[in-house]
Amino acid sequence: MDTNSSSSILVQKLSEAGQSHLLHFWDKLSPDDQISLTRSLELMDFGEINTFFKKAMETSASIKEKMDTRMEAVPRDVLGSVTRDRDSVKDWELEGLSCISQSKVAVLLLAGGQGTRLGSSYPKGMYDVGLPSHKTLFQIQAERIVRLQQLAEQKHNVKCCIPWYIMTSSRTMSSTKEYFAQNKYFGLEKKNVIFFQQGMLPALDYQGKIILESKGKPSMAPDGNGGLYRALGNQGITDDMEQREIQFIHVYCVDNILVKVADPGFIGFCVKKGADCGAKVVEKTNPTEAVGVVCKVDGDYQVVEYSEITLATAEMRSADGRLMFNAANVANHFFSFAFLKDIVQKHEPRLQHHVAQKKIPYMNTEGELIKPDKPNGIKMEKFVFDIFQFAKNFVVYEVLREDEFSPLKNADSQDGKDTPTMARHALMSLHHRWVLNAGGHFIDENGTRVPAIPRGGAAGSVTADGNRNLKDGTDLPIKCEISPLVSYGGEGLEELVKGKEFHPTLTIDQDGIHELVKNGV
Ligand code: UD1
Repeated sequence: MDTNSSSSILVQKLSEAGQSHLLHFWDKLSPDDQISLTRSLELMDFGEINTFFKKAMETSASIKEKMDTRMEAVPRDVLGSVTRDRDSVKDWELEGLSCISQSKVAVLLLAGGQGTRLGSSYPKGMYDVGLPSHKTLFQIQAERIVRLQQLAEQKHNVKCCIPWYIMTSSRTMSSTKEYFAQNKYFGLEKKNVIFFQQGMLPALDYQGKIILESKGKPSMAPDGNGGLYRALGNQGITDDMEQREIQFIHVYCVDNILVKVADPGFIGFCVKKGADCGAKVVEKTNPTEAVGVVCKVDGDYQVVEYSEITLATAEMRSADGRLMFNAANVANHFFSFAFLKDIVQKHEPRLQHHVAQKKIPYMNTEGELIKPDKPNGIKMEKFVFDIFQFAKNFVVYEVLREDEFSPLKNADSQDGKDTPTMARHALMSLHHRWVLNAGGHFIDENGTRVPAIPRGGAAGSVTADGNRNLKDGTDLPIKCEISPLVSYGGEGLEELVKGKEFHPTLTIDQDGIHELVKNGV
């Protein structure tokens, strides 16, 4: 490295931080690569990175030792349930809709993840799970917002707006923005779709040395979905919310095809309970399911990730036979604006990074790229729910998994769950039930009514196209898709379907009802 003053400052900074190895290949880099490495190193706060590393390693060691014995299940008095408290749900929904109509509610999407498990090269929100409409996750969510605004406007006879804040990372920002612009924001006003970017952190080896992914490039990853709080402050997002007089925020993850964006029931429940912070959960029934559980740890609310507890604890059951820790986190959170602002301004620096051990490709000292077959380093992430501990009035809202939770995590080619096929089936099965509830019926190719309750059948007869096998009665869903622009949560369908019979594939959108098979499409 030459010795002008800015580069000698950098050399010194690296040496003081024990990170001089980052310049190991300096002489072999092209002038452009030298400039780009210098830029990325100048942006790093090495003192901070080293402190994060030290603290994260300490915390992760103490978690392994003690988490199981410190956990306590969510007490009944903070819990609202769409099944057990059915009589109250209508009131909660009305309250939520009223807040929406006053433009007090914003939604905030966490979309900065890399979707590594899904293996797509573009942002997960742009994924098409193969619905008849081929809508992507982003489009489905956008249209739910459009529809909800309409419902609130119709009910209260006022114009309202649900601003949509979308957190991306440097990896996903430009493609996400471009996608929205190309699609004219899916009917939303451009000024009400606000993008912002979370921070990145380098991957480190077990000694805290930053890993090089190529000769001139440190290995970087987004700083976790809890990077939200820092980004909200340094990108002026809390100021924007304040200007818009937002009072309640629904934060959610991009991958759940069933997500009820700005769910009036959830918002109304939290508002009526006077909560500053709330979490939506579904019942966890399988001890080994890869979800976090909402619980108390040392008296404070927290989500404990599946990787942080032992199987014995995950398998513990209450007297009623249900899992003791059964409040599965579906990554839908409610925050009052006052609470969120407090977090951003006061508590954010107190949040600890979690450590994920990863197989991180690295450049060895000979300049060869090594792809390790076992973990060789860590990524540090803050988690969005780590702020529950600061809530003064925390509540939990339990909903039905089949109505609200089907996350997209893995590709179809992989074994296991949370695949595009499962997400597609979950949505079509929900919409099928909406049609049945509204008094519609489905008929097979012989004109015979398909029983509302599937007869069950050979599990092996699952086909990839998501169509129900009507001949042998397997429990694949009927192909049915209802545009969110027509119905947000099953409402408004009676006048369209009551007493009528439909052939799958049935689609209902703003142009009307379409039976694709019948029409030979
Ligand atoms: C997440 C929850 C877990 C829950 C599960 C349900 C967290 C930390 N964990 O787990 O408790 O049971 O969903 O599906 O929330 N993201 C960012 N920036 C990042 C990393 C992730 O915005 O740096 C976003 C992703 O785009 C995604 C969401 O956060 O929308 C969740 O990330 P993911 O890695 O899929 O979390 P899980 O481990 O599945």
